[in-house]
Amino acid sequence: MALIPIVYYSYHPALHKIAEPVTEFDSALAQLIQDMYETMYHAEGCGLAAPQIGLDKRIAVIDISEEKNKPFCIINPEIIEKSGSEMMSAGCLSVPGTYTTTPRATYVKVRAQNETGHFFEIEGSGLLGHCLQHEIDHLLGKLNIDYLSPLKKKMALKKMKKSLKRNKNST
Ligand code: NI
Repeated sequence: MALIPIVYYSYHPALHKIAEPVTEFDSALAQLIQDMYETMYHAEGCGLAAPQIGLDKRIAVIDISEEKNKPFCIINPEIIEKSGSEMMSAGCLSVPGTYTTTPRATYVKVRAQNETGHFFEIEGSGLLGHCLQHEIDHLLGKLNIDYLSPLKKKMALKKMKKSLKRNKNST
């Protein structure tokens, strides 16, 4: 098990492009997913996508449980059904120190593969629905601050830089 460094907005090209599909479901992939779980828990996030660790692959891990003991991964995920719309506030590990309100569907159904390549469907509204949409956005090169107006986005990035500086000074 190993922690993997998280990359920040504009610090890595993988964050800003459409990620490549996963084609090999081998033991290296299984290990990567374990490391992503560990990295997500360490960062206290409820989701982490591979581009956030600088990896150009369609993989994301999620755990929205209170006890942080129900992790799952979605590989090559696709939203196959959605309905409703609402605004949702959320942070992002790649834009630390910011909180952004983003338009989201109320309900989504996702088709994805697990770490052995098996296809499954998962559906959700509320936190799970939002988390699925946030992580799938990451795999499309889109972060929640990309929904903001240019001015608000600039302000969010300023906040992020301040937050990174603060954290650097405190360690
Ligand atoms: Ni994020």
